[in-house]
Amino acid sequence: MPPRFSLSELSVLSFFFFLCFFTAIIAHNNEDPTIKTMEDFSGYPIHESHSHLSSLSVDARGLQKQIDELASFSDTPAPSVTRVLYSEKDVLARRFIRNLMGLSGLSVREDAVGNIFGRWDGSNPELSAVATGSHIDAIPYSGKYDGVVGVLGAIEAINVLIRSGFKPKRSLEVIMFTSEEPTRFGISCLGSRLMGGSETLVEALKTTVDGQNISFLDAAQSAGYTKDHNDISSVFLKKGSYSAFVELHIEQGPILEEEGIPIGIVTAIAAPASIKVEFQGNGGHAGAVLMPNRNDAGLAAAELALAVERHVLESGSVDTVGTVGILELHPGAINSIPSKSHIEIDTRDIDEERRNIVIEKIHQSAISIARNRAVSLSEFKIVNQDPPALSGKSIIHVMEAASKELNLTHKLMISRAYHDSLFMSRISPMGMIFIPCYKGYSHKPEEYSSSQDISNGVKVLALTLAKLSLQ
Ligand code: GLV
Ligand code: MN
Ligand code: MN
Repeated sequence: MPPRFSLSELSVLSFFFFLCFFTAIIAHNNEDPTIKTMEDFSGYPIHESHSHLSSLSVDARGLQKQIDELASFSDTPAPSVTRVLYSEKDVLARRFIRNLMGLSGLSVREDAVGNIFGRWDGSNPELSAVATGSHIDAIPYSGKYDGVVGVLGAIEAINVLIRSGFKPKRSLEVIMFTSEEPTRFGISCLGSRLMGGSETLVEALKTTVDGQNISFLDAAQSAGYTKDHNDISSVFLKKGSYSAFVELHIEQGPILEEEGIPIGIVTAIAAPASIKVEFQGNGGHAGAVLMPNRNDAGLAAAELALAVERHVLESGSVDTVGTVGILELHPGAINSIPSKSHIEIDTRDIDEERRNIVIEKIHQSAISIARNRAVSLSEFKIVNQDPPALSGKSIIHVMEAASKELNLTHKLMISRAYHDSLFMSRISPMGMIFIPCYKGYSHKPEEYSSSQDISNGVKVLALTLAKLSLQ
């Protein structure tokens, strides 16, 4: 059966055909073809043509196959995905990504912590490139779309542009970021945070260990990356290294699906923070130590977890959230009073000041709980306390224009999840394209986005990259 195309696909295909055709004529006339190409992108009439029908369509089936294959690099059984930084499965998945980048003709390189870059040189490679990308690490027992859609989708967006005959002026670069998830070392957006130039993080990584006491450097080395902490600052990128950064991602919330809108355009990313807390008490025998004589580090942690919830609710805004996702007790025996407890707190808000007030209240509660229970507060460490980031206005406009040209309705929205884009905004203007996901599920195996929604996102990304590369 011949392929069928929607009206919107036809108009974009025609648009690209026109672009190639026009560029060829201008080149023939010895004029600067990029200038004319820019005119095309800024609103030249679109001529109908059917001869390039196959060249702009997203290979939705191929992309879904890649998503499924990548999901098989997991430490937990399907449908869950667990892919932790520098694990064996992560190393295999990285090879899979490098291979796909190579197959698309991109020149591939990696930095000292394993951020992977695939570049398509533009006609003017001296200009700063336009970048896109996301992450492929997956928290324990999560799904197969978070981050992955923004990496495999970005490679497919490049394929779409290549097939259409498009020639970029600025180079286009796909980035797979190292460890957006904080699973192994407790540091979120490790790769992009470093690219943004965090000296504090370079210092911290010298002594950072995982739950098994394996150092960051040993783990990185075992995956084939840096041996030497002096290398790590080579990951830093100068402000302006890219002219724009755009990330495609599943929404991880229910709004787009509920409202039947295919594209979300992110205007801002909420401000995340994470905190590690440890209490220490005397422990002891669960039968022999009487209640008045105890100083139970476990109960101190439990009380603090409830205090987190209370302080978040006190903000009075639905935008303030707080989660205690880790609570560990030592020695972890039913008949032993916990002598040590460790809890990790994630709190976020779109309002940075309000989020900071919550952090201060949590700190005060930790101090008073320790005092009242006669345990010591051996650690209260704010691991990160990041400001929110705004999307670049001009990028928002380009993403909106791309959605309109593709006949895809869109909604402006904020991102409550954090993303590598938060840190890429320190290097260049950034923007994010969201697509719907089933019931807004994310960070669990039920996470799902349809092939159609993914294809829509890839098309908007492809057209956005094309436009940005010609600016
Ligand atoms: C990213 O995974 C987040 O927790 O927002
Ligand atoms: Mn995630
Ligand atoms: Mn993500």
